[in-house]
Amino acid sequence: MNPEPDAKPASFSRVTITELMIPSYANFGGKIHGGILLSLMDKVAYAAASKHSGAYCVTVSVDTVDFLQPVEVGELVSLKASVNYVGNSSMIIGIKVISENVMQGTVKHTNTCYFTMVAKGKDEKPTQVPKLLLENKTDVRRFVEAIRRKKYKQEYSSFLEKLKINSGNVDDFNILEGQRCILHPNLK
Ligand SMILES: CC(C)(COP(=O)(O)OP(=O)(O)OC[C@H]1O[C@@H](n2cnc3c(N)ncnc32)[C@H](O)[C@@H]1OP(=O)(O)O)[C@@H](O)C(=O)NCCC(=O)NCCS
Repeated sequence: MNPEPDAKPASFSRVTITELMIPSYANFGGKIHGGILLSLMDKVAYAAASKHSGAYCVTVSVDTVDFLQPVEVGELVSLKASVNYVGNSSMIIGIKVISENVMQGTVKHTNTCYFTMVAKGKDEKPTQVPKLLLENKTDVRRFVEAIRRKKYKQEYSSFLEKLKINSGNVDDFNILEGQRCILHPNLK
């Protein structure tokens, strides 16, 4: 039973996109362009977010896109998306990408990443989305992990801010020792 009629379970908006990797998707090395996969991830994230919210959604942030293994021409790529977390207007969509060699019958996990999508109203402003009904332990685990990642991301952003060199002048060159760069004599 759904205790809050407006809340929606993750199962309501779960989406899978499957696409055959054709030769025109390949880079000069014969592997599939990372950008092709990013575009598919964006599409599947949009599909899950707009299904959950019933609204037009935009991509705000993309986390941890690491291509663990190359995808080859001829493979069948499936992207499974699920709403993991819901804020006020934002949703975090978890996406698992797998690639299947249909002739050999082998499957590889190429990456898992997280897209933050925001629902917008007719006025183009962020609009509230339905709560997420957590139906099982996996739903709970994903929601809690998303809260942790969100918190970590905020701390990391402020940490990165502190690493910036505001004046544009580096006064301590020691950090360059052992790096693969050479200082122009004018700088010494
Ligand atoms: C995302 C956007 C709507 C935020 O607008 P805003 O006026 O700053 O609105 P808010 O500050 O209320 O943020 C709205 C939500 O986005 C979240 N958000 C904003 N920036 C974020 C970021 N960098 N990472 C994760 N979430 C973010 C906020 O936490 C908030 O979530 P909540 O409503 O669940 O609490 C606005 O920046 C935008 O439209 N960006 C362009 C998105 C786009 O066009 N993408 C396509 C790629 S070109």
